[in-house]
Amino acid sequence: MATYAPPPGTADIFEDEASEWRCLESAAREVFSHYGYGELRTPVFEYTELFQRGLGGETEVVQKEMYTFADRGGRSLTLRPEGTAGVMRALSNTDVLNGVEQRVYYMGPMFRGERPAAGRRRQFHQIGVENVGRCAPLLDAECLAMLRAFLKRIGLDDAELVINTRGVREDRPAAEKVLREYFSQHIGEMCDDCRTRLERNIWRILDCKQEGCGKIIAGAPEYLKYFSQESRDYFDQVCRALDALGVKYRVEPRLVRGLDYYVHTVFELTHPALGAQTAIAGGGRYELFLPGQNRPVPGVGFAAGVERLLLARQALEKSGTAEPAAAYFVGLTPKMRIANLALANKLREAGLKIALELEERSFKAQLRGANKSGAKFAVIRGESEAEKGTAVVKNMADGSQCEMPEAELFEYVLRNAAQIE
Ligand code: HAM
Repeated sequence: MATYAPPPGTADIFEDEASEWRCLESAAREVFSHYGYGELRTPVFEYTELFQRGLGGETEVVQKEMYTFADRGGRSLTLRPEGTAGVMRALSNTDVLNGVEQRVYYMGPMFRGERPAAGRRRQFHQIGVENVGRCAPLLDAECLAMLRAFLKRIGLDDAELVINTRGVREDRPAAEKVLREYFSQHIGEMCDDCRTRLERNIWRILDCKQEGCGKIIAGAPEYLKYFSQESRDYFDQVCRALDALGVKYRVEPRLVRGLDYYVHTVFELTHPALGAQTAIAGGGRYELFLPGQNRPVPGVGFAAGVERLLLARQALEKSGTAEPAAAYFVGLTPKMRIANLALANKLREAGLKIALELEERSFKAQLRGANKSGAKFAVIRGESEAEKGTAVVKNMADGSQCEMPEAELFEYVLRNAAQIE
């Protein structure tokens, strides 16, 4: 049979996975709405200049990763590589330009021509939020607290949050000078892209993912002290608010993020299940120039990669948070299901994980449940066992089974569970 694979870096999502997606999406909708956010759906493609101007012409995304094409009328269009620029364009038709706050969330596909790998797709999906129109440290802290609440809600409370500040634009020349002095001394050992970055946009060096460059970046001077008092105070207030809210974080003094619109707070979240190189979410405070506007619009927000959230959740399930049940109880009559529940509870009190079927389902369906639970054996009780006062114990690994008196079950499961461990 011929197989028709989708283009590299894209995927078909079937129902078993799609249900997981819906779960994340509805958790996001619920959490975000409690913080006053409403949904905004923007087009999947925009005029190319929106991204060129908004994200920064020197960024990796704009330079190398955008899917850009001319429409029939010859206008250059680009499949959105991220959500912030389109959201800002849409909101520029509202009062945000006059400083009226708008809170929106979005979810949907984004497109970047990256080399596909685990957790790196060409069509990927983001769940993101933008709080637009105002600038205040407490807004940044609130946004981070909401991201934490969302991650907790979907079982990823172990994510590590790293934050930093990029200061305001006026702070940058002094810090750039220090960075230029340092990197000029090491540029011979760095990649070709970093050589160009040294000339064109030195901040992009800090975001280089090449291993050789990473070692040099790790020794770069901490530039915060060259920022203005205003920027340092702003960052300090964000950190103090996070402390007060109980949001855990680590300051990473060289975090800059890959897009040029950020000012003040920047942050990224990683999860132990995926490793420190793969961010599950990122964001920060920004000022974005819209085409035709000379004044940037302020905002703060983040986007989480849906595929990466799901990978982290799946890895967690495999790495033992979902330990297999010691036994699975199959009950074929209402009376037997009650008896199973009573015995299961006794065994749970004794410290075992027991899975069981509590509803009326076919024998086959219940055995499938036993298989899925990872239990080493299934305890089966139907009408004939009820009459005899026995139970059938089936070894799930080799299919062998034996029958034993009901009274011995508790001891048997306890003893065998101990042997399994
Ligand atoms: P970003 O860091 O470029 O930020 O992307 C946010 C998240 O999208 C990443 O942390 C990652 O989880 C996911 N992601 C990015 N690229 C890929 C890919 N190729 N495959 C799979 N997942 C990916 C932004 O896009 C900003 N707009 C976030 C933001 C909102 N900043 C302020 N407001």
